[in-house]
Amino acid sequence: MFERVIDWIDERTHIKNILRENFVEYKVPKGLTFPYVFGVLSLVTMFFQFVSGILLSMYYEPSIHEAFDSINFLIMKKVNFGWFFRHVHAAGANFFMALIYLHMATAIYYNAYKRPRELTWIVGCIIYLLMITTALTGYILPWGQLSYWGGVVTPEIPGSIPWGIGEIIATWMKGGYRLGDLALGRLFAFHAILLPMLLTIMVIIHLILIRRIGVTDPSGFERKKEEKIPFHPYVSLKELGVIMWFLALFTYFVFFKMDKFLPKENFEPADFMKTPSHIAPEWYLLPFFQVFRSIPDKFLGFIAFNLIILLLFLLPFLDFSAVKSARNRPAFLVMYIILIISFTALTILGTLDPTPINAKLGLFFTITLFAFFISLPIISIVECKRMNLEREECKTKEF
Ligand code: HEM
Repeated sequence: MFERVIDWIDERTHIKNILRENFVEYKVPKGLTFPYVFGVLSLVTMFFQFVSGILLSMYYEPSIHEAFDSINFLIMKKVNFGWFFRHVHAAGANFFMALIYLHMATAIYYNAYKRPRELTWIVGCIIYLLMITTALTGYILPWGQLSYWGGVVTPEIPGSIPWGIGEIIATWMKGGYRLGDLALGRLFAFHAILLPMLLTIMVIIHLILIRRIGVTDPSGFERKKEEKIPFHPYVSLKELGVIMWFLALFTYFVFFKMDKFLPKENFEPADFMKTPSHIAPEWYLLPFFQVFRSIPDKFLGFIAFNLIILLLFLLPFLDFSAVKSARNRPAFLVMYIILIISFTALTILGTLDPTPINAKLGLFFTITLFAFFISLPIISIVECKRMNLEREECKTKEF
């Protein structure tokens, strides 16, 4: 019966051919390493975010008088399995961001942003920005103490732009001089409709590009199609195994460790008369937060963290030599380690109190973070010289 239904559908859609073309005839390099799975895990987590988000939006009320109760009372206590979907959504957001950082770190390690995958990388950076914005807007929706004060502090960052521009942006972001119903309604529309729509479009483009060009060979040498292996079943089954382990870990957090993702301060309703003692963004934004607060001038801090994002977009053009993979590039490997240490150190410093010594350390790791980007053209020039290649030739050489 089931087979007949499938055949009936296939006759009309040629779905079997489409699946064969995209999974069996799609060839990937031999010897893909474990970190290549982070892309697929991101896709799985994104799916969970969408499903749980749709269910939550059926009961959430975007109004300052009802938002808190609609989540903490209606969804958490009244709606069947409402608590489960909230847990999945809150834990999922953290897992999603962690996976994206790991996915980006993998792409940087293997230099997957280089020709011919520059566009895959740039679309990835747009996805990253969309994800940050989605997370920021979602954080404010529960209208607890942390949500509210997060919503108050965030507009202050672009608010540091001088000449009155910052104030206009901040007021626009808040929907007035104080966060209220207008802002909450807008944030909900952004978080639940506009941003997920843009994210979906961008992820589809990202996947089409990967499907067209294929993934980078971890050895750094591109192989011919005949030397590659079919994605299905050789890689797909391995990835399925990892997805199972991932689900086990994810459900462990969803059932037993939610205090990590739903801090107790946010179970207190928003109160604009009572500022919490410690307002810091979620862990995935701490490096930017630390860069911002380590630089004494607010506007310079704002420029610095935006520059980091701009440099991320420009990575394929800063690192222009055709040599790929940190495995073949000792100088790049050293700078990559510096990048990871700086990013981790800034994250840790972001959780600590803003003492003068922490500010100095923050400044130091901000400089080492920039050093990574500045070193890339220098490493590229040295590599090109070593191969006796002119710049243009060096960019396009195939190994
Ligand atoms: C929802 C978010 C994302 C999803 C679902 C996703 C999915 C994937 C998948 C399935 C692959 C192929 C396998 C792999 O290398 O893991 C991939 C590759 C890639 N992704 Fe993403 N990705 C996302 C976000 C990003 C971001 C934020 C960046 C960078 C800023 C990025 C950059 C890349 C690059 C450069 C490749 C090519 C890797 C290679 O050639 O080895 N992706 N992505």
